[in-house]
Amino acid sequence: MNNIKIRKHPKIYNVFISGPLSNPRLYTRNLVPGRKIYDEKLIKSEGIEYRSWDPERSKLAAIFMNDPSTNFLKKGIKCLYLGAASGTTVTHLSDILPNGIIYAVEFAERSMRQLIQNTSERKNIIPILADARHPVDFANIIFTDIDLIYQDVAQPTQAEISVKNGDYYLKEKGKLILVIKSQSIDSVSKSEQVYKDERKVLEESGYLIQESINIHNFAKNHIVLIAEK
Ligand SMILES: C[S@@+](CC[C@H](N)C(=O)[O-])C[C@H]1O[C@@H](n2cnc3c(N)ncnc32)[C@H](O)[C@@H]1O
Repeated sequence: MNNIKIRKHPKIYNVFISGPLSNPRLYTRNLVPGRKIYDEKLIKSEGIEYRSWDPERSKLAAIFMNDPSTNFLKKGIKCLYLGAASGTTVTHLSDILPNGIIYAVEFAERSMRQLIQNTSERKNIIPILADARHPVDFANIIFTDIDLIYQDVAQPTQAEISVKNGDYYLKEKGKLILVIKSQSIDSVSKSEQVYKDERKVLEESGYLIQESINIHNFAKNHIVLIAEK
């Protein structure tokens, strides 16, 4: 385990950094000390264990590397995470929100098996094997209003899926983060048009776009929209 000086990010709730603020390394405080989820590094600083957080592996980390002006993380919030995969990003979110809840939806059984293995010691993650296109199907598991929806399903009709889930679960003024991969929606149309169309779907459904963040520097062909209900 390395010894590096780690400090709080000055702007982002419960995220930690080392190095210069203009180009930091990101970390989250490990909720399950000694346990790794993928090939992240475990680092101790002043007796506390952190997990390194690679923006090439996690689009949420890529968002933070691009200095978002919207503050969407707060103590104890309830999140609905669509497209959880095996939990790379979900577990970092779990580190950030020890008093919150993350409902982690994933429809691929294999990924779900890994997700369950990776998160069984984390009491703030509830894995849900379901298709995000049909939010009503998992309503018997989520019995609370949601503060934040994070969507990374890499599907056509991404915005429509967000809106369906947002309309069903998100509280008024709740935040929606939509990760758009242009090629998974329509490989023929130009990326810019894809982003515009997805944006329009959100706006016409009553979501106010607060910010659009280009994360091409870490994830090719990806743009992120942050919206409020
Ligand atoms: C790009 S990966 C997600 C990576 C993950 N967010 C992370 O950062 O660790 C997309 C995931 O969405 C899942 N997915 C795609 N369509 C879905 C759907 N309709 N419902 C639930 N999960 C879906 C895929 O199986 C895949 O695991």
